[in-house]
Amino acid sequence: MDLYEYQAKELFAKHGVPGTRGKTATTVDEAEAIAAEYGVPVMVKSQVKIGGRGKAGGVKFSPDVAAARKNAEAILGLDIKGHVTRTVLVTEAADIAEEYYVSYLLDRSNRTYLAMASKDGGMEIEELAVERPEALARVAVDAIVGVDAAKAHEIAVAGRFPEEVRDQVENVLIKLWDVFISEDATLVEVNPLVKTPDGVVLALDGKVSLDDNASFRHPEHAAFVDNAAENPLELAAKEKNLNYVKLDGQVGIIGNGAGLVMSTLDVVAYAGEAHGGVKPANFLDIGGGASATVMANGLEIILGDEEVRAVFVNVFGGITACDAVANGIVQALQILGDEANKPLVVRLDGNNVEEGRRILAEANHPLVTLADTMDEGADKAAELAFAAAK
Ligand SMILES: Nc1ncnc2c1ncn2[C@@H]1O[C@H](COP(=O)(O)OP(=O)(O)OP(=O)(O)O)[C@@H](O)[C@H]1O
Ligand SMILES: [Mg+2]
Repeated sequence: MDLYEYQAKELFAKHGVPGTRGKTATTVDEAEAIAAEYGVPVMVKSQVKIGGRGKAGGVKFSPDVAAARKNAEAILGLDIKGHVTRTVLVTEAADIAEEYYVSYLLDRSNRTYLAMASKDGGMEIEELAVERPEALARVAVDAIVGVDAAKAHEIAVAGRFPEEVRDQVENVLIKLWDVFISEDATLVEVNPLVKTPDGVVLALDGKVSLDDNASFRHPEHAAFVDNAAENPLELAAKEKNLNYVKLDGQVGIIGNGAGLVMSTLDVVAYAGEAHGGVKPANFLDIGGGASATVMANGLEIILGDEEVRAVFVNVFGGITACDAVANGIVQALQILGDEANKPLVVRLDGNNVEEGRRILAEANHPLVTLADTMDEGADKAAELAFAAAK
C-alpha cells in the first residue's frame, strides 16, 4: 500500500525523523485555520498518490493566511494525472539552502536492500538518475546488519553530502531505516531532504510504500487505508478474499493461478482485436480450491462491473479437478439466480476434464457456452461481449 505524504510523515515523526509541523485539511476554511494557528509562512500541498505534484501546481508557498486560503482553494479539487486532490497538507514552510535525496528500497535482482542517496536532490531525481548516474549513490544494505552508524556514514559519503551536514544526514539515515524495517516498508523515500540556511537538516517530502504481506503484523496500519479512494469492486473483492484487479475492458475473466490468468488477459486482448477492440475487464485468480462459494463470489464481483458484457472462465484442473470446478460453476449459477445475467464462456482442461464438461453439458444452463481451447474460449467471449455492447 502506498501512503500519502502526510501519512508517511506520521511514520517519520514516530521514528524521530526531523521535519516540519503539519496538518491536513479537506476544506478551504480548515486550511486557513491551520495556517493561522502556525502563524508563519506555510506550504499547501496536494495529497495524491502520484509523483510530480510540485510541477502540476499542487505544492504552493503561502506567505500569509490569505495566501494559504487562496492556494488551498486552487489545490483542493486539482486533478494531477487523474488523481483528484481531496486533501491538502498545510505545513510550515522551511527556508531551503540545499536539497538532497535519500531512499531505501528492495533490490530484487541482487536479493538485498538498497540505499540511494545524493546531495543533488529536488524534483528532478529521475532525470539525475539518467543524466548523471554517478551523482546518485547506490549502496547495498545487508538485511541482517541493516543501517548502523558505519553504514549510514558509508551512504552519506557515497552520496557526497557536505561535511557540515553529514552527522545530521547519518542520523536521518538511521531513523529512516528504522521506519523501513519496523513498519515493514518496501520503499521509503525523502525528496527533498533539505538543509536550511542555518544548517538544520529536515525531511520536507516523504514517500512510503508498506508491504501488504506484513499487514497482519501492523493492525495500526489499517487506519491508513483510504476506502473512499479505492475502487468499490476491488474493495468488495478484498472483503471476500479474492485476488481481483479491475481493468477497463468488457470481458470478465475468472481463472485459477496467476500465470494462467495473466495469459488469459493477453489472449482475450488479442482476440478482442477482431471483435471491436473489446478488452479484459479484470484480473481474477480464484486459486486452487475453486469451490462453489469462491466461484459464486467471483462471478458476483465480475457481474457487478457495469462494463462487463461477457465472462470467460478459464480453469485448469489440478488438485481441484474439473468436475469439482464444473459443479462449482453450476452451483454458483444457482446461488446467483437472476443476478447471473451475462453470457459465460467456460473452458476447462486438466484433471477429470471429460467429467467436468459432461456436468456442464448436462446442466445445459442457457448462459453457458463451452469452449475446447483457450483461444476458442477467448474468441467466443470477445465475440459475445462485442455483440452485447452493440
Ligand atoms: N515544507 C516545505 N517548506 C519549503 N519548501 C517545501 C516544503 N515542502 C515542499 N517544498 C518545496 O516544494 C518542492 C516540491 O515538494 P515535494 O517534493 O513535496 O513535491 P513533489 O516532489 O513535486 O511531489 P512528488 O514528491 O509527489 O513528486 C520541494 O522540492 C521543495 O522545494
Ligand atoms: Mg518530492
